[in-house]
Amino acid sequence: MCGIFAFTTKNGKNAAEVLMDGLMSLEYRGYDSAGIFTPESGSIKAVGAAAQLRRKIPAGFFGKSGIAHLRWATHGEPTEQNAHPHQDCSGDVWVIHNGIIENFKALKKKLETLGHTFKSATDTEVLAHLVEEHLKTEKDFTKAALLALNEVKGTYGIAMQYRGDPSRVIGARMGSPVVLGLGEGERFIASDASPILRHTRQVVFLEDGEVASITPESHTIYKLAGTKVSREAEHIDWNAEAAQRGGYDHFMLKEIMEGPEVVENTIRGRLRESEGLAKLGGLESVERDLAKMDRIIIVGCGTAYFAGLTGEYMLEEHAGIPVEVELASEFRYRNPVVNGRTIVLAISQSGETLDTLEAIREGKRRGALTLGIVNTVGSTIARETDAGVYNHAGPEIGVASTKALVSQLSALALLTTFLGRQRGMSAHEGREIARALRALPQQIQAILNTRDGIQKMAKKYKNARDFLYIGRKYNYPIAFEGALKLKEISYIHAEGCGAGEMKHGPLAMIDQKFPTLAIATSDSVYEKMASNMQEIKARKGPLIAIASEGNDEIKQLADDVMYVPKTIEMLQPILNVVPLQLFAYFFAREKGYNVDRPRNLAKSVTVE
Ligand code: G6P
Repeated sequence: MCGIFAFTTKNGKNAAEVLMDGLMSLEYRGYDSAGIFTPESGSIKAVGAAAQLRRKIPAGFFGKSGIAHLRWATHGEPTEQNAHPHQDCSGDVWVIHNGIIENFKALKKKLETLGHTFKSATDTEVLAHLVEEHLKTEKDFTKAALLALNEVKGTYGIAMQYRGDPSRVIGARMGSPVVLGLGEGERFIASDASPILRHTRQVVFLEDGEVASITPESHTIYKLAGTKVSREAEHIDWNAEAAQRGGYDHFMLKEIMEGPEVVENTIRGRLRESEGLAKLGGLESVERDLAKMDRIIIVGCGTAYFAGLTGEYMLEEHAGIPVEVELASEFRYRNPVVNGRTIVLAISQSGETLDTLEAIREGKRRGALTLGIVNTVGSTIARETDAGVYNHAGPEIGVASTKALVSQLSALALLTTFLGRQRGMSAHEGREIARALRALPQQIQAILNTRDGIQKMAKKYKNARDFLYIGRKYNYPIAFEGALKLKEISYIHAEGCGAGEMKHGPLAMIDQKFPTLAIATSDSVYEKMASNMQEIKARKGPLIAIASEGNDEIKQLADDVMYVPKTIEMLQPILNVVPLQLFAYFFAREKGYNVDRPRNLAKSVTVE
């Protein structure tokens, strides 16, 4: 889950500057150490984020080409020694890597017996030595790199350089994303398009098992076996600024505030309101097959998993199709019963979460039709699923997912309408969902406008050490998501609980110091929620409620209330999650934490 960025130019630019600017936009991928190499000036490394590295770079540090890396530690501590780039014995071959080389111990042993000495505890370093070894007999850098890559097993997104051929960079992909950028007299290699977009919009996505050899004016793609691959470049419409903070203190707040726009973008062009239909272009190729499917298994991790759980309620109630939701990391190790009439649906913002990807592969092996609800265009999950729905939510940088969830739930509502209308959902019901979806952006905006009040509430409760989140039915998964948001960025104990389960254990924890956040909007289970709140009040537990506008009576039960507009029951979670996101954000700020970079976590989990 590291970030790689490489650049080679004939335009007289200083590659070191281009690389450092690029690293800043890759920071969401890792930030425990950083490093850069240019053939002209050598290598500098620093513990910490890209800014720390930038401070260490001396005046005059220059390159016509170079490679740069942000690390999120897997093998070896986050120290300068273990930071990338890694070099061979001679200091001529330099490698940056995202992923894990699984057979590195055996390779290291072999290389040591051949006389190589290692400087770090990383798996990556073996690659530099392997290339060095092959350069002894194969003078061509690209060929030596291909030979070396054929020896390693595991996952990688790689860029490497050799001082003997300084304008060339070799990139390779196996399980970790790699994108090439094609500019005028310059070429790029990166983990995603964000550092490339300010220079060019022409990109080529590498597939697993492919190796790219770039110079300022050429790029050649090979299969690991050495055969050439021809691939058209794609034009990317995102602008690089879309990935910047846009005036807010944190990406997380900016992304929460983008909620209305995100829903607009997710549903744009996908509703035929008068007919009560959802039109999903990405599903057209499998539309007939979908009508024959009798079961859906949704897989995801973290927030995407909670989106899936909410989707289960939508799909079963409105599309009448049995749904199971499973953590991707569990699904892939079970012996799941899947057949040709099963849909395995992956939900993933990044489209690169390894467990989710492997769950999809497992589903495929067992004969399922695989679908994705994915935000990142061209990501591995998007490409490996049979069909899917893109979120169109724009890049999400904050590690704690916010806008992606709002979009995932909107996409699930579209999917529910799509599959529902294939299975007897009336046009009237379809129209009702479509109308309610269209009203969401304004309703989310109304909630965002109350953020000062939510900030005050966060201040009031900032000393709480524990938090319980309760909800029922559609809001049961949202209770878990609310707790996850608080844990992720505030580092305090927060638990989600189905309100009906309170009496089976969690109620024992409640006292004056243990607040509960009850999601109690006016719906089919409101009365039940109200009794659960009574039980908490009777134990003197502080209570915050999320309630529907106009519900004054709830003030007799709750100490504080966050009001939200009312929509149809199946869409209510899309509104209810917004104040929970804001509450977690302001709570973490009260504690003085860097909410965009929670300790121990990273945005994209591309290892197990
Ligand atoms: C990480 C992120 C979460 C995200 C999860 C799944 O844990 O911190 O915010 O929900 O991965 O990521 P995905 O990209 O598959 O949605």
